[in-house]
Amino acid sequence: KRLVILASGSGSNAENIINYFSGNSNVEIAAVLTNKQNAKVLDRCARLDVPAVYFNKSLYSSPKFLTLLDGFNPDLIILAGFLWKIPTELVVKFPNKIINIHPALLPKYGGRGMYGSKVHEAVRENNESESGITIHYVNENYDEGAIIFQVSTAIDPLDTAESIAQKVHQLEYEHFPKEIEKLLI
Ligand code: GRF
Repeated sequence: KRLVILASGSGSNAENIINYFSGNSNVEIAAVLTNKQNAKVLDRCARLDVPAVYFNKSLYSSPKFLTLLDGFNPDLIILAGFLWKIPTELVVKFPNKIINIHPALLPKYGGRGMYGSKVHEAVRENNESESGITIHYVNENYDEGAIIFQVSTAIDPLDTAESIAQKVHQLEYEHFPKEIEKLLI
């Protein structure tokens, strides 16, 4: 099975997924694609010897992006901290083959502008007693596709946005590769 990962930033989830499947000869990381020229995920890919491709907005907005993606012949396209909206043509071309991870319990704290630390700050401000992760299929709207998996973690009154982020990242590292593996069966 062939995986393509899209990431815009640090790429710690991308690295975790790459490492998880590194001993599995049935799963290949065909490429990591990024829209940020100096994203940390590119350094990780260089170190891990995984092909990485940078693309800009104009390529993303053109039919060439679909051709690029299709050329990797992906069985699953994984958004791991990828911040651009997925164009309708991609959703149509790869039905139920694009998944995203969101660092909260959707439908709470989803939608445009809700990413990274903003999510955890909002969770903190609202004094939520729990947060968590959501893995879901991607459709044309931010964070609205069918939910595949959710797991929660308790929020303590003493937690800060940073400590919530850490708890959520731990859940991501633990569960995202396993859920990907299940989808590949
Ligand atoms: C993760 O928290 C993920 O849920 C969100 O963006 C973050 C990416 O972190 N969509 P990283 O780049 O994998 O370190």
